[in-house]
Amino acid sequence: MLEQNYNSSMLKEGSLTDKVILITGGGTGLGKAMGKYFSELGAKLIIASRKLDVLQKTAEEISAATKNEVFPAACDVSDYKQVEELLKASMERFGKIDVLVNNAAGNFISPTERLSNKAFDIIINIVLKGTYNCILAFGKHWIKNKQKATVLNIVTTYAWTGSAFVVPSAAAKAGVLAITRSLAVEWAKYGIRFNTIAPGLFPTKGAWERLLPGDLQNKFNLKRKVPLQRVGEHQELANLAAYLVSDFSSFINGEVVTIDGGEWLNGAGQFNILQAVPQEQWDKIEKIVRSVKGS
Ligand code: HXC
Ligand code: NAP
Repeated sequence: MLEQNYNSSMLKEGSLTDKVILITGGGTGLGKAMGKYFSELGAKLIIASRKLDVLQKTAEEISAATKNEVFPAACDVSDYKQVEELLKASMERFGKIDVLVNNAAGNFISPTERLSNKAFDIIINIVLKGTYNCILAFGKHWIKNKQKATVLNIVTTYAWTGSAFVVPSAAAKAGVLAITRSLAVEWAKYGIRFNTIAPGLFPTKGAWERLLPGDLQNKFNLKRKVPLQRVGEHQELANLAAYLVSDFSSFINGEVVTIDGGEWLNGAGQFNILQAVPQEQWDKIEKIVRSVKGS
């Protein structure tokens, strides 16, 4: 069998040349991986989050590798005023923004009854409010200036299944998915399209240390939840994101693309549990089933 390479880039060189792409939470984790690949494909980048030192380091690293411009901009997306400032600074730097990637997030595991209302708010404010703050500020700008644009939101598969122990995040991501589908229709007339990616398990420091702290990582072998028996590689997600923000996907609008190796469906299908039955037992089982007569 051919060795599979999940780490090669997919799109042809220059696929994102002339595009200006803003990624919230672009200094770390999946935001950084997407940014690096967009920059490799020729895009000019704005990466925004709260920690300017982290952003600066990432910006230097990416632009040194790709020779393309990366603008690090401090912004707390939960504060609308800061988002308006981000828009202004980005316009001053590049004169346009073609793509907004709403990737910033906050999350931690906790039994819901242990949460204060402030703990609930903090997650909703980053994920849901942060996303609609950016969409509203940038959307108003695009519509006023008659500029076509693309928005890519990052959710997760529990946006539609829900999940115990991450209730604020699940509620926020469900809201982001609803915004994606709603505005995909409402703002299509302005040439603004909306899509979302729902990643499964992609190891990052930010997510892993908050969602699988201490020895939980060893206790639960998460790969076993995934039919493909592995976690995702960052480049796989970057490849999908690059396609969805590129002109190659111009007719895709309002879509949620799941990239999780089949994980959420594995939890959903009623008889998926039968995967545990060894192949050699199926002859016996078939005989029993065939022998059943009548009701
Ligand atoms: C209960 C907690 C808590 C915890 C914080 N709080 N951590 N409550 N259990 N583990 C409460 C605090 O007590 C406080 O409420 C309130 O939350 C705000 O906490 P602060 O520490 O003041 O907030 P802040 O410093 O802004 O931190 C925000 C954060 C932090 C979200 C808590 O973790 C953060 O900045 N995260 C950003 C990066 C991140 O989370 N990345 C992971 C994304 S992963 P009180 O009432 O006590 O004052 C992801 C993956 C999805 O989304 C799917 C994976 C498969
Ligand atoms: P991460 O590295 O922790 O990324 C989260 C980013 O959000 C950080 O760069 C953080 O930067 C930024 N951020 C947090 N609060 C902010 C705020 N108020 N304003 C601006 N930026 C803020 O985690 P990740 O795993 O790469 O997650 C990236 C995205 O993928 C998230 O949307 C997450 O829900 C989604 N996702 C991840 C996985 C996974 O397996 N990793 C699975 C499903 C979905 P600052 O601290 O500098 O602000």
